[in-house]
Amino acid sequence: MLQPKLKSKVRCTDLDIGEVSKVVLDPLSHEISHIVVSMNGSGERQIDMTQVQDVTDDLVHLKSPSREILALPPFKRDDYVTTHEVEISHLEDNIHVTPGEVLVPLPDLEKSVKRRTFFMNFTHVIGFLIGLPIAYPILRFLMKPMYAEFDNQWLAVGNVSKIKNEDVGVQFEYKKKVKEAYMPEYEVEKNVWLVRATPDLLEKVYQGKDEEFRDAKGYVIWTNKKEIPFIAFSGKCPHLGCAFKWRNHKALGPVFLCPCHLSIYNAAGKVLDGPAPRALDPLPVRVSASGEVEIIDMEFKAGTKSQIRIV
Ligand code: FES
Repeated sequence: MLQPKLKSKVRCTDLDIGEVSKVVLDPLSHEISHIVVSMNGSGERQIDMTQVQDVTDDLVHLKSPSREILALPPFKRDDYVTTHEVEISHLEDNIHVTPGEVLVPLPDLEKSVKRRTFFMNFTHVIGFLIGLPIAYPILRFLMKPMYAEFDNQWLAVGNVSKIKNEDVGVQFEYKKKVKEAYMPEYEVEKNVWLVRATPDLLEKVYQGKDEEFRDAKGYVIWTNKKEIPFIAFSGKCPHLGCAFKWRNHKALGPVFLCPCHLSIYNAAGKVLDGPAPRALDPLPVRVSASGEVEIIDMEFKAGTKSQIRIV
């Protein structure tokens, strides 16, 4: 018997039902095991070659009436791959069906995509668990700089004798060693403003309450006591981080003035004018018996109403 050709008409015992749209190959014997018939608008049916009476050049005769073929389940294309997708050696020695789709059935395990996906995911999870003990120390090392604790070391900035008058801003400059992520350590020049405050000014700053400073975990690391007359302000303007100065303002008198966008603060650090969203940022400060001033260097996000520590 001839091999059925693609596009050949398919005729049942009673009428023509469509044409051959695909052939299915037995991957072991390399023989055509089924033809797939496109049923003139009624989908596709897979018909066993044992149902084929004979094959001519352009016609396939079936042994069954059309109602029996229509009663077959629809053809499930997903259960097959084409011979372009799988390597079958010496296929052309047995198959002469051209052009079109020559299919071979997928192995049962491959048909169940969900099951396959499950096994793939399962394999990934097992791989992850096996690799975790090796990867964890490396990840921890790489991520440590991103989650480093704030540096809460006390830094000496100068002697209190530099401050000659009360309620006047005096700038102290200092250097700080910085280590960022994987960069080598380097030194930055910074500054802090100190005020030796009168009781009146202290009251305006503290409003009767000590000021606590906390670390990243929320633990109190230092408390500026409301009766200690030294106040320290970060040298960065809370608006956008410019350096500000102590200046004599024509209308307001002595103030902290930021030249960038003209924010003005009084000696207590409160905003008197300009775009600054919050008061100057106070820093932890302590003065030793010999008058050495130390601060904890902290930086806060610029432009926010609330104080958000970033360094
Ligand atoms: S940065 Fe100081 S006013 Fe804008």
